[in-house]
Amino acid sequence: MSVKVLLVGSGGREHAMARKLVGGSNAVTLFAAPGSDALAELGTCLPFQGEDVAGIAAWAAEQKPDLVIVGPEAPLVAGLSDALTALGIPVFGHPKATAELEGSKAFAKAFMERHGIPCAASHTVTSFEAGAALIEAWPHKYPVVLKADGLAAGKGVVLAADKAEALATLRAFMDGQFGEASKTVVLEQALFGMELSQHALVDVTPDHARFVMLPACQDHKRIFEGDQGPNTGGMGAFGPLPFLRPEDVERIRKELVEPTVKGLQKDGLVGRGVLFLGVMYDETGPQLLEYNVRFGDPETQVLMELLDEDLLPLLKAVAEQKLDRTEVKLKPGCAITFVLAAEGYPESAKKGVPITIQDSSLTLIHAGTRKVDGTWTTNGGRVMNLVTVAPDLAAARAKVLAEAGTADWPGRQLREDIGLRALNHARAGKTVMDPW
Ligand code: AMP
Ligand code: GLY
Repeated sequence: MSVKVLLVGSGGREHAMARKLVGGSNAVTLFAAPGSDALAELGTCLPFQGEDVAGIAAWAAEQKPDLVIVGPEAPLVAGLSDALTALGIPVFGHPKATAELEGSKAFAKAFMERHGIPCAASHTVTSFEAGAALIEAWPHKYPVVLKADGLAAGKGVVLAADKAEALATLRAFMDGQFGEASKTVVLEQALFGMELSQHALVDVTPDHARFVMLPACQDHKRIFEGDQGPNTGGMGAFGPLPFLRPEDVERIRKELVEPTVKGLQKDGLVGRGVLFLGVMYDETGPQLLEYNVRFGDPETQVLMELLDEDLLPLLKAVAEQKLDRTEVKLKPGCAITFVLAAEGYPESAKKGVPITIQDSSLTLIHAGTRKVDGTWTTNGGRVMNLVTVAPDLAAARAKVLAEAGTADWPGRQLREDIGLRALNHARAGKTVMDPW
């Protein structure tokens, strides 16, 4: 019997998850909302945006899927998980109240402080005057980190290099640069160290608080090599980190993940999905930068490649609040993804450019593509991802770079240095406690 699964989302994260679901040992009948041309090759796309809670709930009430998996954060913040749970449909995706961990930076900071989770010192302000007074007497090293409270399509965090930039950013936020989302602002101490992405599957009810950690990954946010140029949604990722020792991972578990999961339970919040912790590791240990209530993109592409077991039962167990283990089975070695971005990204992305695709040994993930008259074309900023797994980071990098022509088009942008800094750090015999 085939398992009926609805996957909400349309990007590279969802394509990687869909491939893993469809390629597993259970027969899966896949639906995607809204999906993409690439997802249409693996299942049926439905004409609903993720935030269309009423539309998706009406479809689900009639179609009774065995599982709904929510990719992005916005549908969770809009209450999609709650609406489906009310219909008795298993959902991998947190309720609205829990999704506030990503939906409100002020809520997340208060949660961290309440539960003793190490993080940067911060103040939440709701007026320009209150924020300006704090900036005038800023006691920490610059930059000042300003965070719009609400969802701002990944653009709501600014590291202001000096007082003038901090005040100008605060003014723009308070004047509604991101609407209501930026009328509450978190002013935060900057942390310095090595940033990593820690994912955990969490299953928290009033009766139990369980989680499984996935391997730590590292993303590369800047568009150009050597971490230069503007920020992007992520130009490549790899995991696990070669120099992260078991004791370093244990500190992340004990100091960040476990208090988070226990904190949810203490606050009466249900955990029913993934938490992606943005972590800054320095010589004092791991500190929490932020929560995301969804899988990272492109981290998911790495995690799906590493996972050496079926995805479906794992996500279904979380959705049914029956997670019964503390580890997942992983392939040995390291997985990596290189993002192939469109010309002009991140300012603007040149769409409609035909893509040449060649057979290769790599996994090819579609993030922003469209099929036009049988030809794949660019249709977003981050267009495709080249993914592989190899015995170590050096081999994984080499494997992708040797076959970087798997997908190509005029103006394609590719950062060749994905994982290189970490590789050099490891080769120099350094650990996560050494300066990054
Ligand atoms: P976003 O993912 O858009 O919320 O942006 C968050 C990014 O801003 C993180 O990935 C960090 O690179 C950076 N960031 C956030 N908070 C801090 C902080 N306190 N210190 C230094 N960098 C930070
Ligand atoms: N790769 C970072 C994110 O998904 O937010």
